[in-house]
Amino acid sequence: MDIKTIILAAGQGTRMRSSKPKVLHKIADRALLHHVYDTSQQLDNNAIVIVYGHGGEQVKQELDQLEANWVEQKQQLGTGHAVQQAETFINDQDKVLILYGDVPLLKKTTIEQLLKNVSDCSIGLLTVDLDNPTGYGRIVRSEQGAVLKIVEEKDATEEEKLIVEGNTGIIATPGNLLKHWLSRLQNSNAQNEFYLTDIIEMAVKEGIEVKTNQPESQDEVLGVNDRQQLAHLERVYQLEQACKIMAMGVTLRDPSRIDVRGTFASLGQDIEVDINVLFEGCNTIGNNVTIGANSILKNAVIADDVVILANCIIEDAVVGAGSRIGPFARLRPQAQLASGVHIGNFVEIKKSTIDTGSKINHLSYIGDAKIGSKVNIGAGTITCNYDGVNKFNTVIEDDAFIGSDTQLIAPVTVGKGATIGAGSTITKDTPAQQLTLSRSKQISMKAWQRPEKQ
Ligand code: UD1
Ligand code: MG
Repeated sequence: MDIKTIILAAGQGTRMRSSKPKVLHKIADRALLHHVYDTSQQLDNNAIVIVYGHGGEQVKQELDQLEANWVEQKQQLGTGHAVQQAETFINDQDKVLILYGDVPLLKKTTIEQLLKNVSDCSIGLLTVDLDNPTGYGRIVRSEQGAVLKIVEEKDATEEEKLIVEGNTGIIATPGNLLKHWLSRLQNSNAQNEFYLTDIIEMAVKEGIEVKTNQPESQDEVLGVNDRQQLAHLERVYQLEQACKIMAMGVTLRDPSRIDVRGTFASLGQDIEVDINVLFEGCNTIGNNVTIGANSILKNAVIADDVVILANCIIEDAVVGAGSRIGPFARLRPQAQLASGVHIGNFVEIKKSTIDTGSKINHLSYIGDAKIGSKVNIGAGTITCNYDGVNKFNTVIEDDAFIGSDTQLIAPVTVGKGATIGAGSTITKDTPAQQLTLSRSKQISMKAWQRPEKQ
């Protein structure tokens, strides 16, 4: 049987108090709906249908890279009505899985268990025992424990409201049965909605068994309705990520003070991560890497034995083995460091290659540059790469020594082994092995007197 996942994402999300549709709010930089989609994507033989709401054009636009059939539910007349909109995509022999676009942390293993409960004569229903079931549909069971129906909070009797087993809304059923039940839904209830949950009672009356399973943790089935719930699920998600990477051999000084908004292409062993570190995009990190507090790594490639001190920002950059970065360093896109490079405090590197063993330890800007090996760049050195319109390159060959507070006006080349005197403004290529300096002569005035207050 093929699986058809129908993701319900047409709800308004009033309590978010947002101009953005609810399912576009993010956990770990990824839309809620995208999380649900990703989980569903992991199932084999699965096609996805997304039911989006009136005004949900924004959802479709922002997530148009998702491989799915989009159907609009023009008016939100209930969960049953929402599924009806997707009916044309349902084949009789499909296993249909209903998910909610605002329930982002549901696990694949839970879905797989649910799908196992589907057969020609049974359907699967995901339920959850709740500390506070208020607002949820309640699972009404017979004395023998068989599911009889779901009753919505607003339609429940006082006795039914005492039931703690809640409906998660997540259901799996054979396509033919679902279509047959959908055509029979009525909206004669407290909310005048077409409830998807009514199919449970229909199933039972037709002798179809309702088999239930529960998630490992309540957080898996929690939906996002307001910003507090969004923040709660962000923390749940982040703690899961922290546990995952600790299981891979990473030491986290505090698993509750790290954020992973993306993935790792690979993670070495014995990585140590201090507090408040943020990983974005797709990072690659080698063995024995230390990452200092408050650092941000985005799409970084970090080789073995690198030390990143506190407060560094590394984005779309490559750091070679044994290099030392920071504190307070910024590696911008296309910074490529070979092994054993030292980048110190308040140094910014952009679109530059830096060869083995070179050092830029203090207060410098290096952009559009090609720097050889064993080069020493003194404090306050700046590659002046931009004339306001065009960018130009600076080349500094191996073993060069650039004195402090030098400006290199690109395009310019500093020859191999050259020394540049401190405070120079270099506008022409400098020869190899020689000292070059451009500095106005120092003078002292014997007869000079400080002005006095008049
Ligand atoms: C629903 C269930 C309830 C369950 C609860 C779990 C029904 C009738 N009730 O109630 O038993 O305990 O979820 O959270 O199914 N949606 C649409 N179109 C609509 C209405 C809803 O796409 O017309 C989507 C929403 O975007 C949301 C999901 O369906 O993702 C659930 O809708 P919501 O209004 O939150 O249902 P509840 O009243 O909470
Ligand atoms: Mg709800």
